[in-house]
Amino acid sequence: MTAPETAVELSGVDKIFNEGRTDAVTALTGVDLSIARGEFVALIGPSGCGKSTLLRLVADLIAPSSGTVTVAGKPARQARLDQEYGIAFQQAGLFEWRTVLRNVELPLELRGHGRRERRARAEEMLELVGLADFARHHPAQLSGGMQQRVAIARALAVHPPLLLMDEPFGALDEMTRERLQDELLRICAATGTSTIFVTHSIPEAVYLADRVVVMSARPGRITDVVPIDLGTRTEATRQSPGFFTGITRVRAALRGPGPRDPGGAHVVLTTAVTPGSPEGAPGAARAGSEAVPGVAPEAVER
Ligand SMILES: Nc1ncnc2c1ncn2[C@@H]1O[C@H](COP(=O)(O)OP(=O)(O)O)[C@@H](O)[C@H]1O
Ligand SMILES: [Mg+2]
Repeated sequence: MTAPETAVELSGVDKIFNEGRTDAVTALTGVDLSIARGEFVALIGPSGCGKSTLLRLVADLIAPSSGTVTVAGKPARQARLDQEYGIAFQQAGLFEWRTVLRNVELPLELRGHGRRERRARAEEMLELVGLADFARHHPAQLSGGMQQRVAIARALAVHPPLLLMDEPFGALDEMTRERLQDELLRICAATGTSTIFVTHSIPEAVYLADRVVVMSARPGRITDVVPIDLGTRTEATRQSPGFFTGITRVRAALRGPGPRDPGGAHVVLTTAVTPGSPEGAPGAARAGSEAVPGVAPEAVER
């Protein structure tokens, strides 16, 4: 059987939390999105617009109130059971008592892979993220950037066709972040992985993505999709005119139909590249325990 051409399909998706109660929140409304196999999609939008909710729907960590979510041609529930995706959050969410190697082995262990195969695959993944020499370290002995690379290695360990990432580089310094962006693109290209990447950084979205999906809050919905055509990213990309054009387009889309000058033209500021403000994401505290979906830290063998 050949893999389906469409990696992810959301159709008419609404998500209402606490539906029917006085504290009901419409997090997403009317979301239609189709992601091709091997495509890299960035999700961007103001805090609370439903980015994490969208990702959690694709991961089947929550269910839509209406509409359908399809992953690799099957219902999201089945795709989760078949481990069609790997997932990484802002917090690396590593298990402190396990070595780096055994953290990466975990999803393979849960999937019932034998010890030798597990070890070989985990070592291969650590090689891929440049951490082969740290396999026997514990997470606390690594920098934040290195921990995040371990989380990526773990997410990729089952060779998932789809990678879901929720602000995975949000807590890192700018230089580490740029290096990891390049590494991620290299890994995705080498493995043919499709990716949904949530970020609040406009340059990060433009640098990484084939398409930037722009969302707005209250109620959360997709307001624009900006195609990015920068070809293979190189040292020069971040200084290229195409990069800045992409940034300008995404920023304009984020502003939406805003103030217009007396002549009627859209006012767009293009001067500075502002790194997005850190987001007090409501999901942040919860996210760590979901780094391996459905597994509470207590439940993991030491
Ligand atoms: N489990 C939940 N229960 C109630 N409301 C929630 C829950 N998760 C998210 N929300 C609300 O849904 C909206 C979207 O949240 P979220 O997807 O985390 O936004 P983002 O990731 O874009 O910052 C917010 O208003 C948030 O408060
Ligand atoms: Mg979020």
